[in-house]
Amino acid sequence: MANALELTAVSKRYGQTSALDGVDLTAEQGQTIAVLGPNGAGKSTLLSIALGLLPPTSGTAAILGHPPVEALRKGLVGVLLQESGLLEDVRVDELVTATAGMYQKPMPVERALRAARADGFAAQRIGKLSGGQRQRVRIALALIGDPRLLVLDEPTVGLDVDGRRALWQEVRARTGEGRTAVFATHYLTEADDYADRVILLAKGKVVADGPVEKIKELVGGSEVHVTLDAAEVGVLQALPGVRQVRVEGGAAVLRTNDSDATLRALFATFADARDVRTAGTDLESAFVSLTGGN
Ligand SMILES: Nc1ncnc2c1ncn2[C@@H]1O[C@H](COP(=O)(O)OP(=O)(O)OP(=O)(O)O)[C@@H](O)[C@H]1O
Ligand SMILES: [Mg+2]
Repeated sequence: MANALELTAVSKRYGQTSALDGVDLTAEQGQTIAVLGPNGAGKSTLLSIALGLLPPTSGTAAILGHPPVEALRKGLVGVLLQESGLLEDVRVDELVTATAGMYQKPMPVERALRAARADGFAAQRIGKLSGGQRQRVRIALALIGDPRLLVLDEPTVGLDVDGRRALWQEVRARTGEGRTAVFATHYLTEADDYADRVILLAKGKVVADGPVEKIKELVGGSEVHVTLDAAEVGVLQALPGVRQVRVEGGAAVLRTNDSDATLRALFATFADARDVRTAGTDLESAFVSLTGGN
């Protein structure tokens, strides 16, 4: 089975600026991939090159085994670009219907409008829509071709709760059928909740790539906070799973790879262990640590 998306050694330079630097990326069909990174990290550049909308300085891109432009022409890809313009003088349903005509096997217009929660203003002129309503139209346009691969650049910007929920529901339904979704986002909770895999970009390079859990582990497991009458660092350090010990007053903070094992041993060893709480490494700390805090 062809990969949904394959980038090989892709670089993009703008004069002195290196927007992408040797990026390799293979996305299997059925995956939901979140591309994360600070402003200017290269997310939009990566997606545009993957889609064949921007030529790389070097490297190659393929979609479902085809050159990207061909995949677009065959209607295999649905696209939502960051801040893409829309025709102003047509009605929402007219625009979506016209776009459907460009695909071989589009989904019914009503279905795309409903999935994007744009059905409530289908008869409106686009020029009269609010920002979030326009984003819903962009989502309908990305979905209308019933594509095998969805590429969405910051799709939930400006969307309200209902719009976001509807979008992720549709993305899940599609990837459940073996289709693929790749989206850029700044909302770490979206990556946490909806992506099987996170690609973290910083300064044009992939700095981490894997399931959300693996990205969190890169930064280091979880922390156990405990109050002890006499915190003996050496003994704490020797507990199972513990990687690092910090003593702050009467409390000790243990960084551990296995909080369950650490807690069991902690209670077995220290009868006076109390006020225990654990905190997982969240994606936000991982993000800040791996992207250099931008
Ligand atoms: N047309 C262009 N001309 C010159 N430099 C560009 C151009 N487009 C992007 N860049 C530069 O390439 C780098 C990556 O930009 P890109 O738009 O891919 O970032 P991004 O990760 O999508 O950021 P954001 O989160 O703000 O959308 C930035 O340094 C940007 O200034
Ligand atoms: Mg961008």
